[in-house]
Amino acid sequence: MNTPSSQVRLHLEPDQSLHTVDPRLFGSFVEHLGRCVYTGIFEPGHPTADAAGFRQDVAELIRELGPTLLRYPGGNFVSTYNWEDGVGPVSERPVRLDPAWRVSEPNTVGTNEFIPWCRAVGCEPMLAFNMGTRGLAEALAYWEYCNHPGGTRLSDLRKAHGHPEPHNVRLWCLGNEMDGPWQMGHKTAEEYGRQACEIARALKQCDPTLELVVAGSCSAGLPTYPEWDRIVLEHTYEFVDHISLHIYVNDHELPDLPAYLAVGLRMDDMIRTIAATCDYVKALKRGKKDIHLAFDEWNVWHWKNLHPEGFLPWCHAPSQVEQTYTAAETIIFGSLLISLLRHADRVRIANLAQLVNVIAPIMTARGGPAWKQGIFYPFQHGAKWGRGEVISCRVDGPTYPTKEFGEVPFVDAVAVRDPETKCLTVFAINRSLTESMPLAIPASLRLCEHLTLTDGDPLASNTPENPNRLLPRPAGKTGSLPPLSWNVLRLE
Ligand code: AHR
Repeated sequence: MNTPSSQVRLHLEPDQSLHTVDPRLFGSFVEHLGRCVYTGIFEPGHPTADAAGFRQDVAELIRELGPTLLRYPGGNFVSTYNWEDGVGPVSERPVRLDPAWRVSEPNTVGTNEFIPWCRAVGCEPMLAFNMGTRGLAEALAYWEYCNHPGGTRLSDLRKAHGHPEPHNVRLWCLGNEMDGPWQMGHKTAEEYGRQACEIARALKQCDPTLELVVAGSCSAGLPTYPEWDRIVLEHTYEFVDHISLHIYVNDHELPDLPAYLAVGLRMDDMIRTIAATCDYVKALKRGKKDIHLAFDEWNVWHWKNLHPEGFLPWCHAPSQVEQTYTAAETIIFGSLLISLLRHADRVRIANLAQLVNVIAPIMTARGGPAWKQGIFYPFQHGAKWGRGEVISCRVDGPTYPTKEFGEVPFVDAVAVRDPETKCLTVFAINRSLTESMPLAIPASLRLCEHLTLTDGDPLASNTPENPNRLLPRPAGKTGSLPPLSWNVLRLE
């Protein structure tokens, strides 16, 4: 390990704007999985529930978190979902089995509950089609139900269900993770590419202003990566706007904490690879438009051993895929956010997976309180101060060696300028477990605020008993980054 001996130099060029951040970079994800919907966002009978059954304590935390976009209703769940089950009188909705998560789904919450709630918490909806068990006819029907103003069977049905105005959903996902062998209705790239092309062509003919996300690689670890993306894009280039990619980083196969702290570098790699694949297909097609990236699932997640006690009987809303985030994982999460901002020229959409209870920044107890995990804060800071223009920012500082990622810088940073106030925000992490890193800030700039989230114990976390252990705190005006920390530096 290269012990830091000197300051870390921050080279900022405030006048050199690299790209503008699309606010949809700060999206999140609500899936019918575990307790994300039921006893997460929705819990009739909870002391804070509104008349529709949505928890207002959770809604308040979501507004504080500040996501702009919510993907719904899955995830693996969507690949057997019938959207028709989730509309109309709740008492008449069917209970179904969800084979993806092996639970039962009462359909108490569906499109007509989700969309008004989504907008009430300040987000735009991003809906996904079922391309596992269904296809073109159902996709067109779902679009017509949601978006057509009226005078047709399905748009009039929406009106009869109490929604006279169209939901006007602009952003649609063509299925979910269709390259994953675990996906219900998993397909080859050729099979999926053909079907996605037909659905996208039909939807664009209905409404050319829709934005469509085709399902790209859901893991760089799959043997089909990135050939899947090339084939799928060759089928769909003309009709889609974004290609999705997913990443869940974890310490599986990483030997120690310093290597784990560098795992976010995999996101940079994936973005470069898929952007290059998009550009290759564009050239092949003699195309004019760029395909943008939608990182529509990203997070830290220990996904191995998903069913530790074997399959449960088909119960409703069990505690599935819940994870407590440590201080170290909060820093790793921050590194992913830095990577997204750095590549915001190509990544226009990103969805933190997920929003509540399921690998989430917000946790709830059934009938009880809600609290914030450590990862809540980097996301909140990004959503608040990461809007505007990413400017040129280079960090010169010490590094440490890893077998998996080569030399890794202790400090990683990105800078965003608010176009109105001209204020700069630097988001920075310090991966060192022992050393503070004094940041040398250019003399032309003045540090007016520094928030830092750090903990002496890399395994520390927030719990219902101690919900504020991981909390950003003012760090003084020296510009020094504490060991193992997430930092926000506001410069004028
Ligand atoms: O976010 C949890 C699951 O991870 C999603 O349902 C799926 O798309 C991915 O594999």
